[in-house]
Amino acid sequence: MNKINSLKEYKEEYRKSIDNPEAFWSKKAESFTWKKKWEKVLNWEFETPQVEWFIGGQLNITENCLDRHLDTKGEHIAIIWEPNDPNEDTVRITYKELHKRVCSFANVLKRNGGKKGDRICLYMPMTPELAIATLACARIGAIHSVVFAGFSARSLEDRINDATCNIIVTADGGYRGAKTIELKHIVDKALETCPSIEKSIVLKRTGGKVTMKSGRDVWLHEELEHVNDICPAETMESEDALFVLYTSGSTGKPKGVVHTCGGYMVYAEYSFRNVFQYKDGDVYWCTADIGWITGHTYIVYGPLLSGATTVMFEGVPTYPDSGRFWEICDKHQVNLFYTAPTAIRALQACGKEFVNPYKLTSLRVLGSVGEPINEEAWHWYNDEIGKGKCPIVDTWWQTETGGIMISPLAGITKLKPSYATLPLPGVQPCLVDSDGHEIEGNDVQGNLCIKFPWPSMIRTTYGDHERCKQVYFSTYPGKYFTGDGCRRDEDGYYRITGRVDDVINVSGHRFGTAEIEAAIDEHENVVETAVVGYPHDIKGQGIYAYAICHNVPTDMEAFVVEVNKTVVEIIGPIAKPDKIQIVMGLPKTRSGKIMRRILRKVAEGEVTNLGDTSTLLDPSVVADIIKGAGL
Ligand code: PRX
Repeated sequence: MNKINSLKEYKEEYRKSIDNPEAFWSKKAESFTWKKKWEKVLNWEFETPQVEWFIGGQLNITENCLDRHLDTKGEHIAIIWEPNDPNEDTVRITYKELHKRVCSFANVLKRNGGKKGDRICLYMPMTPELAIATLACARIGAIHSVVFAGFSARSLEDRINDATCNIIVTADGGYRGAKTIELKHIVDKALETCPSIEKSIVLKRTGGKVTMKSGRDVWLHEELEHVNDICPAETMESEDALFVLYTSGSTGKPKGVVHTCGGYMVYAEYSFRNVFQYKDGDVYWCTADIGWITGHTYIVYGPLLSGATTVMFEGVPTYPDSGRFWEICDKHQVNLFYTAPTAIRALQACGKEFVNPYKLTSLRVLGSVGEPINEEAWHWYNDEIGKGKCPIVDTWWQTETGGIMISPLAGITKLKPSYATLPLPGVQPCLVDSDGHEIEGNDVQGNLCIKFPWPSMIRTTYGDHERCKQVYFSTYPGKYFTGDGCRRDEDGYYRITGRVDDVINVSGHRFGTAEIEAAIDEHENVVETAVVGYPHDIKGQGIYAYAICHNVPTDMEAFVVEVNKTVVEIIGPIAKPDKIQIVMGLPKTRSGKIMRRILRKVAEGEVTNLGDTSTLLDPSVVADIIKGAGL
């Protein structure tokens, strides 16, 4: 079903998808269960923008993830859950059980006032209940907004309020390596200023002490005693929202990227099956958290739509030791493994002794996602983990694209380390110069845009369509702008070179520099900050903050601790700066704009080739900054 088997077939499929996208995607969509077939395949324009796929079609994505597999795969394992602590039991959930548990959870949501169109926030550890809650929302037609459980109360509060969620599902706590995170406390703090929340449904995971607010907070296990496991799937229009997921951009607060039911479903399944070359019976493991888009599309929806066995891991790669990933691969005989370059680099740095004890013979395909994979990490992954036998799919995509856009198809596309290679069928990338002119031909470099809609593309930014237009469709009119720089080599292969905007990618997590600056600025001794990314051996990019202070701190160590604390409170531990430099001034132009180019160079350790500094209001600050950096 919908599977490409050779390079020749890929080329044919690609050509068909360009010649007649509507016929192409219509055919792919036919393999799903629709409650009512669509009347028109596609409506689009990239100005407003307005994009609609499978118009008039009605469906429920959970019927496609669950119900339609019951006859043939009811006893097949849908989810293998591997706990943080290797001594705790693995949980295996069949499709039949998952169906029941999703229906029961859906009834709990209904019992607590959840209904079609509501926004429901999920702030949970990586337990099976997170996947179940996600699907339960979709079952009743509520829009899920999963917030990564490493975000702070402030970040959670912002996201809940932006989407005016009426229910939050959380847990007493969560385990991550040696740490226990007290999620319910964080939620309680956030909810002090979230008037839209009526109910908080709490999973008991750690057994830690929590306060339950009467009338608002309920225990999941108690609620489950009051419901049965039958819940008909709500009828959804193809273009009804399925979920909102917050992500950072160059400016302002994170925005809620909205994906819709029909197109997202078709593309999630198609891309999963083809990129990983999934075969019936394969065990597939994506190490991401469901709090990110990778988890949405390639832990939950893509694999379950395909009837696969998907592994969910609660913990971290280095607990109890740095062999954990490989131990899990052997334990569950994982065939398809998908992780991020930052994890690969971190594990590479720990040494081979953590890999050697494991056989890794079940592995057939390796994947990479989230940031450029450097050649050294690529080769280590290929040689030490894949033993030279597993194709590596370097998958380029974004929260906004919903699914993988540029990637090899495993075992089909000829690989080239650090290249995402070729677009998937239906994806029409182009490179543009700074004036927006399309750069034709090969062996060229430019800004990466997509010039034709694909089914799982962003539809809007929640509550603010104008922002969607401004951010993605205004820079280069008529095109979706990705924010990434890209090279197309002599073979027509694409290599993503990194962000060209003020977004930094730290360990595969996206942050706007403005967002981190705003957090640091909240420290009482800070007057102004400028944040840039710099190359970091493990994280890909590190966070370098230049700060002007009211009083130059006498104890720099204590100041760093305090700034970190502020950032952790406002965003979360993942946004802590790696380096902080106190400066007397920032390199500003006469119009007041910070020349980040200079700050980036200094952060990289470069003192020459700083470019033209003549437009600076006070060029002398540059020499001070270089001196302060110890260069
Ligand atoms: O810069 C690109 C980088 O991650 C950005 C998207 O981040 P996010 O929305 O958080 O989604 C990450 C997971 C899909 C992109 O704009 N990126 C993602 N994958 C790659 C990549 N950069 C290079 N190579 C990749 N394979």
